[in-house]
Amino acid sequence: MNFFNQIPEIKLSCTGDISAITAAVAEKLSASESSHDLDHTIRVMHNAELLLAHTPGVDADIVRLSALLHDIARPEEDAGKGSCCHAELGAALSFDILRSAAVPHPVAAAVSRAIACHRFRRGAVPDFIEAQILYDADKLDSLGAVGLGRAFLFAGHCNARLHNTEAEALSSEPYSKEDTAFREYLVKLRHVPEKMFTAEGKKIAVSRLQFMETFFSTLDSEING
Ligand SMILES: [Fe+2]
Ligand SMILES: [Fe+2]
Repeated sequence: MNFFNQIPEIKLSCTGDISAITAAVAEKLSASESSHDLDHTIRVMHNAELLLAHTPGVDADIVRLSALLHDIARPEEDAGKGSCCHAELGAALSFDILRSAAVPHPVAAAVSRAIACHRFRRGAVPDFIEAQILYDADKLDSLGAVGLGRAFLFAGHCNARLHNTEAEALSSEPYSKEDTAFREYLVKLRHVPEKMFTAEGKKIAVSRLQFMETFFSTLDSEING
């Protein structure tokens, strides 16, 4: 299956107009920045499927709808330069979208709760399995080849250098010339596996991180010989 540009089809076990929900997401995310655009949502949906396949006893409707809707309020957070939290606003917007599309109240409420805690660093702890799968699926998109691509996209956005030393990276400020992809890796990404909730999520995270380690060591040797 090709996951580029096309939202994967979701077959719900519960009632609900999935085409209306999908259309609402596509419309909202057309205004998102590239690191949290519709492609990111589609990749998170794909990651969620990888985790769902290895985690028994999970409500797949809640996981799939959460992944689809999780960043729906990113455009508002980006436009407000972080003054609103996209997880909190996204939780409220998602609930309304789901209820308007005739998704049962308990499912809409659970999706909303999962989205409210999907960033965790600044919010509530994901304390039920569907929310934990969403959290892990979202985090996996910051690792591996995709994670490298996103880190360089962001560094380009900040007009940062292509690469720097560990000392330069670790002594620098966010959004500075030294806020390189390597800095993102050193400060945040290499710690992601220890924050994963699911066993499968952790396993995939460790393997994607190994790829990043190899990449940065190759980059270093190409530059420094
Ligand atoms: Fe998010
Ligand atoms: Fe996300």
